[in-house]
Amino acid sequence: IRVDWDAVTAEKGGFDHFMLKEIHEQPKAYRDTMLGRIDESGRKVVLPGLKLSDEKIRSLTSVHVIACGTAYNAGLVGGTAIEQLVRIPVMNDVASEYRYRSPLITPETLVIVVSQSGETADTLAALREAQANGAHVLAITNVVGSSIARDADDVIATLAGPEIAVASTKAYTSQLIAFYLLGLYMAQVRGTQSADDVAHVIAAMHSLPEQVESMLAQADTVKAYAEQIASHEHLFFIGRGLDYSVVQEGSLKLKEISYIHSEAYAAGELKHGTLALIEEGVPVIALATQETVLEKTVSNIKEVKARGADVMAITHEENVPDLLKSVDQALAIPKTLPLLTPALSVVPLQLLAYYAALARGNDVDKPRNLAKSVTVE
Ligand code: AGP
Repeated sequence: IRVDWDAVTAEKGGFDHFMLKEIHEQPKAYRDTMLGRIDESGRKVVLPGLKLSDEKIRSLTSVHVIACGTAYNAGLVGGTAIEQLVRIPVMNDVASEYRYRSPLITPETLVIVVSQSGETADTLAALREAQANGAHVLAITNVVGSSIARDADDVIATLAGPEIAVASTKAYTSQLIAFYLLGLYMAQVRGTQSADDVAHVIAAMHSLPEQVESMLAQADTVKAYAEQIASHEHLFFIGRGLDYSVVQEGSLKLKEISYIHSEAYAAGELKHGTLALIEEGVPVIALATQETVLEKTVSNIKEVKARGADVMAITHEENVPDLLKSVDQALAIPKTLPLLTPALSVVPLQLLAYYAALARGNDVDKPRNLAKSVTVE
């Protein structure tokens, strides 16, 4: 018997690309990042080794979340999670802007830097700027021996395992898990959520890996849609609230590997200018999972539909029949708490970028002009 084998094929573990392998590794990454961080009762978050004292957590007046690219997008979701769970003002910024604008940092500011590689030059410089101003800097990173992990005052390691594809997938979702854990932990200390509410979120987090698995089993629907949009040069993603944060990641992923120009827009902002770009046949992907703004999102969908857009909605099963009255296609994702939904809703967007890049014949794992780790400012 002749077996064709090489080291790279073996590392891809049977998948055609590292990106697809890493998308499929997400259920494991979720479990690993949660492991040892929930107490035996299953009702409380514990963060062993955290230097941030309870007294310090109680004294905080603001949180800054700083990162680049996909890590910044994870920080958007994470910032909302902290704001909702802890009821403390959160500010998000990209590292390359933050460090040059004399941000208002005090010793009562918690600065969270997020970086898969832990080597991104701008994020490292932002960390130093924050420390120079007396802030406690907590890093959420996937590489524990990295420069950012070494220099930060605290580290919450994401346990996603090595990420090889330039397009980040499992790092993003495990960063979300780290943020949920941190938000719950701070809420426990500051007493902003009841013990039952914390336990309720934890229980829902435990179901996420299986829910992701069920979505991965239905990847063919996303593949068919990706092949449909692959011939377009422009498309739009819209959403409100956390859906808006997630579509920003979906849009970045699509641009990065498929080279299709896309814009992620806050659905309610379209009518202030961008609606002019919607014409017959323009694909619009509407993420509509957040119940509190669902009705508003549907009105925004109708606005683009009326201008001829071809709309794909991503929503929960129960909303599909209603939404199908206003959209061309709909994809259902499993249901979890609204706050945790980004950990599920991003998965079809990752698959969409992957299959669109594939359909266009691009080098999925090594897109043009990009490096895995950006060590220049
Ligand atoms: C993600 O798909 C990108 N390759 C890129 O935006 C990346 O997330 C960014 O460069 C930040 O990298 P880091 O997480 O290693 O700091």
